[in-house]
Amino acid sequence: MKTTAREKELHRLIMGIRRCRKCPLHRHRTHAVPGEGPVQANILFVGEAPGKDEDKQGRPFVGHSGQFLDRLMDGVGITRSSLYTTSSVKCRPPKNRTPHAKELEMCRKAWLDRQISLIDPKLIVLLGKVPLRQMLGKKENLSNLHGQTFKKDGRTFLVTYHPAAAMRFPKIKDKIRQDLKKVAQFSNS
Ligand code: URA
Repeated sequence: MKTTAREKELHRLIMGIRRCRKCPLHRHRTHAVPGEGPVQANILFVGEAPGKDEDKQGRPFVGHSGQFLDRLMDGVGITRSSLYTTSSVKCRPPKNRTPHAKELEMCRKAWLDRQISLIDPKLIVLLGKVPLRQMLGKKENLSNLHGQTFKKDGRTFLVTYHPAAAMRFPKIKDKIRQDLKKVAQFSNS
């Protein structure tokens, strides 16, 4: 498919996500947060769920953890505008609870899988336990898995921490920085 056709298709997906009522999470949202970035992005970042600021603005990673992620990316030479950024679920769960397994499956099948096939990224970066479980079915501790890449269904995934965890714990900040250096090498290769 040509880039313009892919852009149109991505736009259609985004409009579908904004109107989505497939799971109960839509009842609590102000705005759904489909994701942002170019359709030709080589790298796709998957977070957990929109937070308060993202829900207000309808844009991914615009709150504190997003700004923190931006600084980490800057530090290793990754430009946010060249990536596609989205989350496991597109609507903010009530009281910021962890998305339920059914919501994760629903949102993946309805939207995330389609975003992935359309963007066709060379690398998918999973930020935290929620996308790790959703995309790779793994429930293990991140301390054992972060920085590793996994192949599934012809896709390559790199596992790291969610920036909110790295904001709280300096040791995790070092680990996520090391992992993002790998992402930077990948994006320059
Ligand atoms: N955390 C996420 O996982 N996604 C966002 O958009 C913001 C915070």
